[in-house]
Amino acid sequence: MVYKVGYFVGSLSSRSINRLLSKALIRLAPEDLEFTEIPIGDLPLYSPDYDADFPPSAVALKDAIAASQALLFVTPEYNRSIPGALKNAIDWASRPWGQNSFDHVPAAVIGASIGGIGTAVSQQSLRGVLSFCNARQMTAPEAYIHFTPGLITEDGDVTMESTAAFLAAYMEEFRLHVERVLTVLPRG
Ligand SMILES: Cc1cc2nc3c(=O)[nH]c(=O)nc-3n(C[C@H](O)[C@H](O)[C@H](O)COP(=O)(O)O)c2cc1C
Repeated sequence: MVYKVGYFVGSLSSRSINRLLSKALIRLAPEDLEFTEIPIGDLPLYSPDYDADFPPSAVALKDAIAASQALLFVTPEYNRSIPGALKNAIDWASRPWGQNSFDHVPAAVIGASIGGIGTAVSQQSLRGVLSFCNARQMTAPEAYIHFTPGLITEDGDVTMESTAAFLAAYMEEFRLHVERVLTVLPRG
């Protein structure tokens, strides 16, 4: 059984350390997880005025989530919360009212920061948002990655063995979480 995982990178930066982290996670993940990035950079700012007629980028976002059996959020911390681009994408996907794309979807959050708390506050904020959206979140393990220069190469190779082992274990737990949730809440 292969599980289709859609993943979000919360950063729009061309030099994003969270994009490097996403590459590392994909490399270290169990083989039966298949990853597709769900882009967030082309979405306009959400307004309820769009509810009757979503633009193509927002339709594509909702279609991509619908095609995913699980979601992985890899995000930086911006001013002790999640970046606006990610929040905007979540707001789009949660609407129109009654068509919340996150309902019952297995999900996990992780992030990297150059700061010592490794996106802990951002992840708490994201967890609150995803709770309201009724995503089925993995609560443990948590993963707050303190990024130091060279920790992950451009190809997603993790240069510190202990970090690589931790991230591999995190992804194995994610796979188990996805399997458990989908057992009781199957998705197409
Ligand atoms: C607008 C802005 C706000 C930031 N706020 C925080 C913060 O609250 N906590 C933190 O640890 N790092 C913060 N940083 C530093 C980020 O950890 C750092 O820029 C990191 O590289 C962002 O992830 P990215 O490379 O994936 O974009 C902030 C950076 C920016 C640009």
